Amino acid sequence: MNQSLDVLKAKSSAKAGQSIPHESAHLHVTGQAIYIDDLPELENTLYVAVGFSQCARGKIKQMNLDAVRAASGVYAVFTAQDIPAENNCGPILKDDPIFAVDQVEFYGQALFAVAARSYQQARQAVRLAQIEYEAETPILTIEQAIAQQAWVIPPVEFSQGDVAQAFHQAAHHLSGSIALGGQEHFYLEGQISYAIPQEDQTLKVYCSTQHPTEMQHLICHALGLRAHQISVESRRMGGGFGGKESQSAQWACIAALFAHRLGRPVKLRLDRDDDMRSTGKRHGFSYEWDVAFDQQGVLQGLKVQLASNCGFSADLSAPVNERAICHVGNAYYLNAVQIQNLRCKTNTVSNTAFRGFGGPQGMFVIENILDDIAHYLKCDPVQVRQVNFFAEQAGQGRDHTHYGAEVRDNVAPKIVAQLLERSQYYARKQEIMQFNQNNAWIKRGIALTPLMFGISFNAVHYNQAGALVYIYMDGTVAITHGGTEMGQGLYTKVRQIAANELGLPIDEVRLLPTDTSRVPNTSATAASSGADLNGKAVQNACIKIRQRLAEFAAGLSQTTAEHIRFENHLVTADNGMAWTFADLVNRAYMARIQLWDSGFYKTPEIHYDQVNHLGRPFFYYAYGASVSEVAIDTLTGEMKVLRVDILHDVGRSINPAIDIGQIEGGFIQGMGWLTNEELYWQPTGEHAGRLFTHAPSTYKIPTSVDIPPVFNVSLFDNENSSDTIYRSKAVGEPPFMLSLSVFSAIRQAVQAAIPADAPLQLNAPATAEEILRAIALGRGHALADRPKPQA
Ligand code: MTE
Ligand code: MOS
Repeated sequence: MNQSLDVLKAKSSAKAGQSIPHESAHLHVTGQAIYIDDLPELENTLYVAVGFSQCARGKIKQMNLDAVRAASGVYAVFTAQDIPAENNCGPILKDDPIFAVDQVEFYGQALFAVAARSYQQARQAVRLAQIEYEAETPILTIEQAIAQQAWVIPPVEFSQGDVAQAFHQAAHHLSGSIALGGQEHFYLEGQISYAIPQEDQTLKVYCSTQHPTEMQHLICHALGLRAHQISVESRRMGGGFGGKESQSAQWACIAALFAHRLGRPVKLRLDRDDDMRSTGKRHGFSYEWDVAFDQQGVLQGLKVQLASNCGFSADLSAPVNERAICHVGNAYYLNAVQIQNLRCKTNTVSNTAFRGFGGPQGMFVIENILDDIAHYLKCDPVQVRQVNFFAEQAGQGRDHTHYGAEVRDNVAPKIVAQLLERSQYYARKQEIMQFNQNNAWIKRGIALTPLMFGISFNAVHYNQAGALVYIYMDGTVAITHGGTEMGQGLYTKVRQIAANELGLPIDEVRLLPTDTSRVPNTSATAASSGADLNGKAVQNACIKIRQRLAEFAAGLSQTTAEHIRFENHLVTADNGMAWTFADLVNRAYMARIQLWDSGFYKTPEIHYDQVNHLGRPFFYYAYGASVSEVAIDTLTGEMKVLRVDILHDVGRSINPAIDIGQIEGGFIQGMGWLTNEELYWQPTGEHAGRLFTHAPSTYKIPTSVDIPPVFNVSLFDNENSSDTIYRSKAVGEPPFMLSLSVFSAIRQAVQAAIPADAPLQLNAPATAEEILRAIALGRGHALADRPKPQA
């Protein structure tokens, strides 16, 4: 694997810009990092197991829990009736019961829970429940939901420009449909909460969550408590990927319910299979599209129906779909566009945030459309992409997204030009054509896809953050902010920012666990904006403290604050006087100077009209491009990614090693989504709606052997034109979408295996079966009859 850091080495400044290791790396690799299940358990801790529905849709005729209550070790059994306030944990709409009542809506829905003296006992007791259902036919697919007009939120119609006119005038038209599967988060640490009663009706909850404040609110909502009675702490997660934004709430509420009612510490840790069956996933999508274009492949008009599988409730489906609508254009200018967005209700688990948050699902369709256009016009797919880019500079037309935002800093054309060069795309394409002519069974494909991803939450109010920075008397620094650490390196970047602002070595700065009782009213750590928001808030606090210390030092050295520098662990005045940081801090303490402060940040300039889907929802865009080469075996359907070249824009990197880690990890996770990771629900029968792919045995995520043997990742030399922290750019989600080139490359390979004028219909994930099916279809064979994978 080849990681190119040279671009940034030259420009790194002080602590920010250096590839220092993750702040917990030494703890992660030695097993000393404390996750919630590693916390020392208090005496009297009870363990909770949840009873789940074994019917996807129907009435609960009878729920007999006598045997559960009588089982050995059982301390308490709770159902919806035992919830003191509202039986709901929905993050936006209140349509997510904590425990189902009367009606079950998916196979795996929580019905009751048991607290026992050990996990083993709790889990054994759960199995003794006698539940009878009056089963109804579940809605399991997008197609079924559309046929029954089953929505979790009403459909959205969006239109910009004169679409009818554009279609009327265009030289060429194509239409098609395609389906895209969902994805299991597969965080290594499953959902877990440990709730501990404190004095006077208060609770402390340790929760593996991206959104401590929402956990606090939803626990209050269920228990009828006030926010100041609950504090939620998250030191780190063993991965979140969006799956712990809202989906941690149900388990936090159940743990808090038992702790509050029983007055004892309560731990709830989902078993892996239960976690996979009963927590939401990425939304699968299904698309119908019509496109109008000219002889060069320039898009003239686009009509697309985006139908998403939301599962049984709304959860975050509205904002996820909103982001899909915004990213249907990816890096391309859309003159006239009409989007119908269906938010389908199915009897499956409620789908949720997942890296990219609908963005990948928006981009997927346009990349497939451009490939179809290129094939139709018999020209290179890269050229069709290039002619559709936004203008590089604003002010000369082709510079507005379909949702009305001006594109000011479009570096996609430059990135693509550089990447074509570095990856030797055209030369390799020639070789691949030669290879395909000479090989009957193995076919290769190569493809480039660009990326333009909007950074900021679409919901404007979420774009704020707070922080506290404390300097102790010995000169060491402790920081806490509203962001959570899930492995992405947020705490590391924040540590670098504070060290840089105060002129300190990294080791002098420590991050405290994120806790709602330290920084209140926090936003989810999501939308890739963790470092943008919290980094700026921390910087803001550091500047206030530094200013106070500078004034104090200026007084000691008879100069003014502008002449005081904080560097190399020293505080130095221009006139030569100097103190160690610790010495100055100690003197400042004696002089009664405030040595700590709060910081706040809100993203400027953004606005968005959620009703008309217009505005400037994103402060800036992250860009990138990838070239992937794959080989398929046309006899078995087996696929291998042979080589990947990535050029990605993280602005001025705060930590190139961490950013490259995010790019590599995001790309591989996206590759899994589009290739191996297939979710499969039993389609019919008594257990219709049961998730078959409920464990690593049946659900295949990429492993180290799937990493392409040639994997070149480089950072594009760029500075964020928007005023972000040190001109860096968010990196958490965007690289996920670089994986779209893998799917395009597989399409090219399948194309090489079928007659040139045959239909190419490949759905995602492109598993071995799906590749074989697409080849058979293209060759007119019967294998094509296998039903479409469920989105
Ligand atoms: N990286 C790791 N290692 N683990 C994770 O769970 N989550 C991703 C991304 N990178 C994730 C990750 C998602 S979905 C988001 S939104 C961002 O990190 C959140 O963190 P950030 O805003 O600090 O980038
Ligand atoms: Mo990330 S899907 O915004 O948690």
